[in-house]
Amino acid sequence: MAEHLLNFDSAQFRKVIGGFASGITVVTAVTDGQPVGMTCQSFFSLSLDPPLIAFSPSLTSSSYPRIRESGAFCINILEAGQQELCNQFARSGGDKWRGVDWEPGVTGSPRLAGVLASIDCELENEFVTGDHYLTVGRVTSLHATPGLHPLLYFNGTYRQLHPHQTQQARSA
Ligand SMILES: Cc1cc2nc3c(=O)[nH]c(=O)nc-3n(C[C@H](O)[C@H](O)[C@H](O)COP(=O)(O)O)c2cc1C
Repeated sequence: MAEHLLNFDSAQFRKVIGGFASGITVVTAVTDGQPVGMTCQSFFSLSLDPPLIAFSPSLTSSSYPRIRESGAFCINILEAGQQELCNQFARSGGDKWRGVDWEPGVTGSPRLAGVLASIDCELENEFVTGDHYLTVGRVTSLHATPGLHPLLYFNGTYRQLHPHQTQQARSA
């Protein structure tokens, strides 16, 4: 039966919001010559003309201040087989870049190997809203590999459009 919640706590809020299925991105930049990156589900396209996108980093993220400092970033849209990469960039601290293959995009921000698409952006605007920032990027270039399937996130777990076509299945 459907639930109608007038008074809800953050766990209930998370549970309902988790029903919004999405792709997953890793947002990358280079600051002081060092690559930086973080997994972000909160990505969406904002404007076609001019081409703008947005994502929401937490106020507590340690990677985001370095992304801001670089003034540019790359949104890497993950492919179905990149679940491990996704987890690697979701852990705070440590060497997130161990074993990661990448090349600089137009802004110098890392374009991760094997992703479905990478979107190079200049930092356009930033707002503080609640416990997150809303960060707007102006798209400067697009790089896409046709035919790949996305890694999806739904109800707190990874999903795929075609489970039999995962990286693991292909390399088995
Ligand atoms: C599937 C998934 C989606 C995530 N989406 C976001 C997001 O939209 N915004 C955010 O701030 N953190 C998000 N995170 C958590 C960050 O990736 C994680 O807190 C961050 O990488 C921590 O590292 P940092 O301290 O280096 O920033 C997500 C994590 C996962 C697993």
